[in-house]
Amino acid sequence: MSDFGFETRAIHAGQEPDPRTGAVVPAIYATSTYKQDGVGGLREGYEYSRSANPTRTALEECLAALEKGVRGFAFASGLAAEDTLLRALTKPGDHVVIPNDAYGGTYRLFDKVQARWGLAYDPVPIADVEAVRAAVQPGTTRIVWVETPTNPLLGIADIAALAEVAHAADALLVVDNTFASSYLQQPLDLGADVVVHSTTKYAGGHSDVVGGALVVRDEAVAEPIAFHQNSMGAVAGPFDSWLVLRGLRTLALRMERHSDNAERVVAFLQGRPEVSEVIYPGLVEHPGHAVAARQMKRFGGMVSFRMAAGERAALDVVEHTELFTLAESLGGVESLIEHPGRMTHASAAGSPLEVPDDLVRVSVGIETADDLVADLAQAFERLAR
Ligand SMILES: Cc1ncc(COP(=O)(O)O)c(C=O)c1O
Repeated sequence: MSDFGFETRAIHAGQEPDPRTGAVVPAIYATSTYKQDGVGGLREGYEYSRSANPTRTALEECLAALEKGVRGFAFASGLAAEDTLLRALTKPGDHVVIPNDAYGGTYRLFDKVQARWGLAYDPVPIADVEAVRAAVQPGTTRIVWVETPTNPLLGIADIAALAEVAHAADALLVVDNTFASSYLQQPLDLGADVVVHSTTKYAGGHSDVVGGALVVRDEAVAEPIAFHQNSMGAVAGPFDSWLVLRGLRTLALRMERHSDNAERVVAFLQGRPEVSEVIYPGLVEHPGHAVAARQMKRFGGMVSFRMAAGERAALDVVEHTELFTLAESLGGVESLIEHPGRMTHASAAGSPLEVPDDLVRVSVGIETADDLVADLAQAFERLAR
């Protein structure tokens, strides 16, 4: 479906009407196994649902079409996708460059899990291309790992420039595209080799499923991932695959609205004296703005800000909103607010990835923008009392 636009691919890729019944929506194949027509006589290759399941296939085909990759793989969570990728592409003694601002759970995977098995890593400011180049060890570095925008500080990495740095050292560039979504940013087009998603977030989009995905550019990279997906078994189940696929159909519309609403929230926060810094790649003063404007369609629904009065004020704000729900996660239709230092990024405390304690992160939903701004306003008013 590569000639079609993004929205068309989101609705049709992997989702042809059922040839038997004409059902327009892919079925949930709640089955672990498949009847064989004689030993080894598999129907369309289906043998056992860890290896492949038609609902998961539909999702994997759609993910690949959206990211313009050769293959997509769906997992039980974003971290399951990351772990499978690392075990497929690295071995003990290898080295990985990681962002010095990243999702806390990703950092924990490198620091507490993969490092024990001999995978070395260095956290680097990935907005600085020369710092990444200096950290790459030719012959040992297998992966340059990038999040852009990063979680939670919304740093921007130049995907095209870092692809060149990684490839010059025979390493692969992996881009966690969770915050931008496939709609706003297409890393494979910019030279990345693998795209990672926590489909729990914008892909699913309704906070009702946990999932992960990988999409790759080359068959040579797809092959070991396919082997490890089946050998490690952290696959997405049929119900979860179906929910993510349903989410993807409206991804484009949702991302436009998330971006609209985030712009309104940013404008409000910029006018508040209690806020010392508003962090959003759409702001011209954001250090990554020019790169973000080049590689993203719009700037997305994630906004972070710092409170001038410190951690207590940040905690007060997150505890005083009513429409913005105090919760971890992001990317759903509803607005969420959180304190990264004590919540999503608590696992990075004391590490190079520790986040400022006056930081608040919001996932701006698709509710009525005026209501979202009013909710933040009342939370700030209560702060003043
Ligand atoms: C940027 C990013 N990558 C990966 C993950 C991990 O995904 P999951 O929670 O689905 O395992 C998250 C989770 O918050 C995330 O924000």
